[in-house]
Amino acid sequence: LREDFVSGWPGEIVRMNRVASTQEEAKKLAEIGAPEGTTVMAEEQTGGRGRMGRKWHSPHGKGIWMSLVLRPELPLALTPQLTLLAGVAVCTAIREVTGVPAGIKWPNDLLAGGRKICGILLESSLREGGLHYCIAGIGIAANLTEADYPEELKGIGTSLLIEGGGIPVDRTRLAEAVLEELEYLYALYQERGFQPVKELWESMSVTLGRQVSVNTPQGRTEATAVGLDDNGGLLVRSGTGGITSVLSGEVEMI
Ligand code: BTN
Repeated sequence: LREDFVSGWPGEIVRMNRVASTQEEAKKLAEIGAPEGTTVMAEEQTGGRGRMGRKWHSPHGKGIWMSLVLRPELPLALTPQLTLLAGVAVCTAIREVTGVPAGIKWPNDLLAGGRKICGILLESSLREGGLHYCIAGIGIAANLTEADYPEELKGIGTSLLIEGGGIPVDRTRLAEAVLEELEYLYALYQERGFQPVKELWESMSVTLGRQVSVNTPQGRTEATAVGLDDNGGLLVRSGTGGITSVLSGEVEMI
């Protein structure tokens, strides 16, 4: 990221070169009282983390690896809404800045050309039974080439550079745009609730209308993704027409 990085984002932006994970850095700051909006960005992560204990490949200078401290007044059950909000913000910024037609795969992956270009990891910390703070981690594969991907990620991960026909992305501009979108959507969310975010998410989703595989206590079944419920869960319609809501981790796109 350029030295002259500026942003209207109200939080302080802490720029680091190499860290294990920006999630841990943001968490340390949150623990010592960093205000909402405090953002950690790094050029490289040596221990980048994804959902479900997976690793997040974060080579030097090739992506946007950042974590934000959020302090929403929200019941814990509604925090998945923030993941969806972050997905909408990043998807909008990517489309605007790069023209790459990114779409959102529920709950929080951004895809382009059928492969992943961005992942979002929302981690919540609790205090006295309630939400203390959240760390929203955003990883955008901006300028990775096919050669930057290790063997096991080839075919799974892509980048804005690859999907944009080889044109490198100005990471500074993109990071600014992501923060601007986040600020706007977060304010909208606090003012008007989840509905406007939900409508935007549905319009950017690549999951709705598709067949998904749902993991239930009775085993795996197939269903059609039809919408979002008010908590941010995915509504699916089974072959017999019944509509149920499923949580992250229980469903996969097929
Ligand atoms: C996923 O798709 O599984 C989520 C990936 C989240 C990656 C970002 S990069 C910045 C932040 N720091 C991390 O260690 N992870 C998140």
